Amino acid sequence: MNGKNMRLDGEKTSPKQENLQLKRGIGLFSGVSLIAGTMIGSGIFMSPQWVLYYVGSPGASLLIWAACGLLAMLGALTYAELGTVIKESGGDYIYILRNIGSLPAFLLAFTSIMVTRPASIAAISLSFAEYVVASFYQDCPMPQVVVKCTAAVCILVLTIINCLSVRLATSFMNIFTTAKILVLLVIIAGGMVLLAKGNTQVLQNSFENTVTGFGPIGLAFYQGLWSYDGWNNLNSVTEELKNPQVNLPRAVMIAIPLVTFIYILVNVSYFAALNPTELLSSDAVAVSWGVKVLGTWTWLISLGVAFSTCGSANGVFFSGGRVCYVAAREGHLPDILSMVHVNRLTPSPALIFTSFISLIMIIPSDFSSIINFFSFTVWLYYGVNIAGFLYVKIKKPDIPRPYKVPIIIPIIVLIASVYLVVAPIIFSPQLGYLYVILFILSGTILYIPVVHYKWSPKVFRSLTLHLQLLLEVAPADKEQ
Ligand code: ARG
Repeated sequence: MNGKNMRLDGEKTSPKQENLQLKRGIGLFSGVSLIAGTMIGSGIFMSPQWVLYYVGSPGASLLIWAACGLLAMLGALTYAELGTVIKESGGDYIYILRNIGSLPAFLLAFTSIMVTRPASIAAISLSFAEYVVASFYQDCPMPQVVVKCTAAVCILVLTIINCLSVRLATSFMNIFTTAKILVLLVIIAGGMVLLAKGNTQVLQNSFENTVTGFGPIGLAFYQGLWSYDGWNNLNSVTEELKNPQVNLPRAVMIAIPLVTFIYILVNVSYFAALNPTELLSSDAVAVSWGVKVLGTWTWLISLGVAFSTCGSANGVFFSGGRVCYVAAREGHLPDILSMVHVNRLTPSPALIFTSFISLIMIIPSDFSSIINFFSFTVWLYYGVNIAGFLYVKIKKPDIPRPYKVPIIIPIIVLIASVYLVVAPIIFSPQLGYLYVILFILSGTILYIPVVHYKWSPKVFRSLTLHLQLLLEVAPADKEQ
């Protein structure tokens, strides 16, 4: 099979250039749009009502949105130092592998492939579906089966696009990013007009009914932080970033304040148009906002949300493919998941596998519970990762560090992540969190024979071979 000389960026290498060498094609602008494009997805259209639900008042909601932006910024600055010291792609996975060890890195790869990535794709496509379906059911409740089938169609279409061509996927990403920013600007402008007309009731007495308590605040953070997730996305592809020492910190410093600013203004706009009761009872916040402010032009919002969610899910598929590929390069994942289609040069096995699990996940779940478990799991890993980073920073102060983050920043993020993981368990305990932990640990059962003892039964090899033939995929060249 024509398995040699392939590159994941969609170009063939010359016969002599056998190693997969990822090209440094991402400049500052693309870096910023890669971060902002993944961050802005479903959250800003879905989570505001959940943040409000947990903290009770518009004023406290806005504070949570600002605090989430700050936390994302501090986290991303820490990751900027990580990404300039450890120059390989792969984000969290590669940092945990280099700073902590093989088993925790394997557990992260295992969890991300089996749970967090499919769960986030499921959640984003459920929100896509809720918006699309809500436009047809404006005066009555939406049938859940219609929502779930629409979400499934979204996942299947994205899988097909991503399997067909990397270029097609990136062009879709660019169109979607532009569309989503335009829609958010429309929402902000509408809010400004309402405020100028004197619709400021909600912003007076804005802290009335505020709920305090560690549990609800932790859950409100989970919902808000979902909208900011993606802040470390550029770290997954640092091998492809031009001049990463300079561009990684810069891209972070541009993208995250920009997104935070947009999110806060969009929330102000929602509050200017809808009172807390209307917000909480709405199926789709931005549509309710549109019905009130834009009237017959509400379809514009639904269309924008559809683009935004598809774009973000597309970004998760795309960067997830890189992490999968790096983990397989390190021998942590089955070979088949790192293979690429021989003609289309897309990582189709990883994509099909992810899509399969995402489809299963949309059946029992709803948006808000997926988000809570997702945030719990990712913040557990961010915490582990930052602890490893601090350990190495203190132990080996002499490693060259092109970008240095003041040590207080990772310490704050570490404390925040401990709080985020522990608070909901203690104050709003759910069996689900225990299942997540048991699931992560169950990866060890796989790790010991498969990675540690490199056990590879014959049936596995022949299954891989059959799948290779069926899917027309072959291994991409490993970097030396
Ligand atoms: N922030 C995105 C949204 O609001 C979700 C990003 C999911 N991130 C991930 N790494 N899977 O929809």
